[in-house]
Amino acid sequence: MCGIVGYVGNKNAVNSIMSGLKSLEYRGYDSAGIAYYDKEFKIIKAEGKLNNLEKKINGLNSNIGIGHTRWATHGKPTVENAHPHKVGKFTIVHNGIIENYDSLRKLLVSDGYTFKSETDTEVVAALLDKFYSEKADILKVISEARKLLIGSYAFGILCDDYKDSLFALRKDSPLIVGIGENENFIASDVPAILKYTNKYILIDEGEIVEISNKVKIYDEYFNIKEKEILTFDGDLESAEKGGYEHFMLKEIHEEPNVFKNSTIPFLKFGLESLLSRDFSKYTSIDIVGCGSAYHAGLVGKSLIESYGMRVNVYVASEYRYQKLFTNKNSLVILISQSGETADTLACLRKVKEKGIDTLGIVNVVGSSIAREADSTIYIKAGPEISVATTKAYFAQVAILGLLALNIGYSREELSENQLEEILKKYSTFPEIIEQVINYEYSEISNSIYNYETCFFIGRLIDYSLCLEGCLKLKEISYINSIAYPAGELKHGTISLIEDDIPVFAVVTDKTIADKTISNIKEVKARGAKVILIITEDLDDDFDFTDYKIVIPNVNKILNPLLVTIPLQIISYEVAKLRKCDIDKPKNLAKSVTVE
Ligand code: AGP
Repeated sequence: MCGIVGYVGNKNAVNSIMSGLKSLEYRGYDSAGIAYYDKEFKIIKAEGKLNNLEKKINGLNSNIGIGHTRWATHGKPTVENAHPHKVGKFTIVHNGIIENYDSLRKLLVSDGYTFKSETDTEVVAALLDKFYSEKADILKVISEARKLLIGSYAFGILCDDYKDSLFALRKDSPLIVGIGENENFIASDVPAILKYTNKYILIDEGEIVEISNKVKIYDEYFNIKEKEILTFDGDLESAEKGGYEHFMLKEIHEEPNVFKNSTIPFLKFGLESLLSRDFSKYTSIDIVGCGSAYHAGLVGKSLIESYGMRVNVYVASEYRYQKLFTNKNSLVILISQSGETADTLACLRKVKEKGIDTLGIVNVVGSSIAREADSTIYIKAGPEISVATTKAYFAQVAILGLLALNIGYSREELSENQLEEILKKYSTFPEIIEQVINYEYSEISNSIYNYETCFFIGRLIDYSLCLEGCLKLKEISYINSIAYPAGELKHGTISLIEDDIPVFAVVTDKTIADKTISNIKEVKARGAKVILIITEDLDDDFDFTDYKIVIPNVNKILNPLLVTIPLQIISYEVAKLRKCDIDKPKNLAKSVTVE
């Protein structure tokens, strides 16, 4: 996520803003910028790390300004795209995604506006300037502009006619006001102000903030609201994690919002945006990735093949050296959170040499795989700090589900009614994600954390989900976890099943549910401790499991996402009970950029 800091006060705004931006570095970014007043509002921006910006602003002084660290979502991480953006009298910084920026941009271009950047933010600055040129009432202008925006935002706004005030507002993205001694702040998050004050106000949607030597918060009728002043009593580190003990837990709790951000681009304008990709020329798809990205690909395989399109999924480090049978009628999809994984990047280059179409499914905007693939879908999961992926894997599976629907509909394997029926569930699905996140898992976690071996079994898509659950537990708790196709156990591995050994069993696919239930009985008969994860439609009064997690049966596209949640949270709780370094597991790197 981007970071925003604004300052008005009797100290040096430039230093206070830079200090605040540094405290927001944990949010991830690829460029930064600052606007400050010195006879007029001036802007300085830099690509890369904050010290590149710092070198450019040395010695500058001001009493008002806004700053921004950018996590690119629209347009590459360049100086032109870095914030702040100034159009006419308005200078703004933005955290969020304006989904309808392209249609607004067209309207503004027809009004004579020109744009220097590829960003949605610059469009908003122009919108504010346009409205202000028609009616110089800044609160009304901000309120009118807000009504046209679809998406998420937290804005810091400067106007040339107000050199002692800055304005702010939010929707979905976080925003706070810091209350200091003769100085006031706006910020994306508490860490940015802790060096100066621990007094803050949470801004609600619909409010407009004006900070000067005073703080005014206006309601939608422009009346000034009294708001509670809160006191943050934690340290900087706990503030960076949003009050969660680890980034991993924070990122799991972000999954309802990540689901919204990942899927809105496909659903914002109905079927037109969902069906925008033409897969009709392909007879098969190869999906390539490493680790969790590979596991997401396996889930995608089941979803896409259910609509008649053949999919092969490969581990990138194998695919890059094996003989290629992929041809020009195939599409190669490369999945990568970082967009920099060496093996996956090598596969991209290998197939591109053969003139094969490539599609990237990537989180980091402007990363190598995103730049080099013929086209890229950004999963918009925001920066993922914890080495063990959770929300990015979650978003990868969500995107693959939408591609499956696109393919199914274009191959006429899915009628418009069936498609509409599935899509109807998307708007309320974040609440269901939240509900499953808030189940109680601690009894299960406490009953398995002191074992050194653990099994995960399932069939077809359920086995693919087991693979990721197994990797999650293994990589952060160091328990020797083994994922196995349930039907394959009896061909040898079942000899390892002994009294009390934990076995996770996943059952969501009704076509083979009874087969997996039989396999569960086989391991139970050999003394296993069975933790069953099952959709409510398949749940019977099974009395042979030790624990049962029943998840809502939404539909076959969204159910896999719900299975992921208990597997992530139990892995987290077990690793915590084993006192492991959850966000930085031993021997692991967030992005494996070497072979
Ligand atoms: C981290 O939890 C994953 N387990 C790790 O395997 C990761 O998925 C893999 O290294 C690929 O990374 P990428 O998505 O950045 O390409």
